[in-house]
Amino acid sequence: MTGFDGARGREQQVTGLLWTVMLGEKVAIDATAVFAPADAEGTVRRIQIGSGARVGAYALICGGARIGENAQVEEHTIVGKPEKGYAVGEFYPGTGAYTQIGAGVVVRAGAVIYAGVQAGPETVIGHHTLLRSFVTVGEDTQLGHSLTVERAARIGDGVRCSPGSHITSSCVLADRVFLGAGVRTVNDRELIWHEVGREPDLVPPRFERGSKVGSGSVVLAGVIIGENALVGAGSVVTRDVPAGATAYGVPARVRDRHGVRRRITHEKAALP
Ligand SMILES: CC(C)(COP(=O)(O)OP(=O)(O)OC[C@H]1O[C@@H](n2cnc3c(N)ncnc32)[C@H](O)[C@@H]1OP(=O)(O)O)[C@@H](O)C(=O)NCCC(=O)NCCS
Repeated sequence: MTGFDGARGREQQVTGLLWTVMLGEKVAIDATAVFAPADAEGTVRRIQIGSGARVGAYALICGGARIGENAQVEEHTIVGKPEKGYAVGEFYPGTGAYTQIGAGVVVRAGAVIYAGVQAGPETVIGHHTLLRSFVTVGEDTQLGHSLTVERAARIGDGVRCSPGSHITSSCVLADRVFLGAGVRTVNDRELIWHEVGREPDLVPPRFERGSKVGSGSVVLAGVIIGENALVGAGSVVTRDVPAGATAYGVPARVRDRHGVRRRITHEKAALP
């Protein structure tokens, strides 16, 4: 189905197909956009497109996608794709889910958003950024281009991520976190890969509110970057960084702002 507009704000029932698309007022949908309402098991979910929203050329919108008012879904994007195939010990059968793109969200050309993602109002999802299944992103967050955000990661409000980072599955970026370019997060302590009888112990890192991580840093499994802490560029962070501290180097150590290493003792920040 292509090339319709929602100027009359009605539910559009497509003759001969077992699905519906709900259109708000004054939506603009490019004639080449494609709608795929059924998942791999044949379950059809309604697609909703809010008033004033725009869907660009060659976008693929899957069943269960709810695109908020005035959202912009640019060219060559995929929204609500059900995950199918084997990954990290699980088989994903391609069953869909509801995918929420909030009001005023901009999904830049080439972004891929899997089923079950929730993106809060006014958030920007950069070019070629990948949000895997059930990722949540808060309000007014800017995700730069070419990020990989793995399954069920949680990103808060007012977060800024520069381009090219990898955010591992179930990782938490609390509100107002800043990541520089090319930050790598790791959730596997031992790098077990296909070792018979052993399961990996996957523990994602956590970034507390207002923390900042410099470009090119690697943050290892289970590490907590404390509230308003700062990690210098190019660091390998192997231990928790306390709230408000500055740490850098390989391995990262807490230092004052003149480079002098500080010995600190601190309680490991409690997980919520
Ligand atoms: C850590 C940082 C905040 C500076 O801290 P600072 O205390 O003001 O650092 P200074 O410039 O006074 O340098 C102190 C010493 O630490 C060293 N140093 C500074 N940053 C470092 C880093 N990231 N890694 C290793 N050493 C570093 C300096 O070379 C200097 O060493 P020296 O005394 O032997 O010459 C800064 O260097 C940094 O890494 N910022 C991150 C910027 C970034 O990635 N932005 C994202 C843009 S998208």
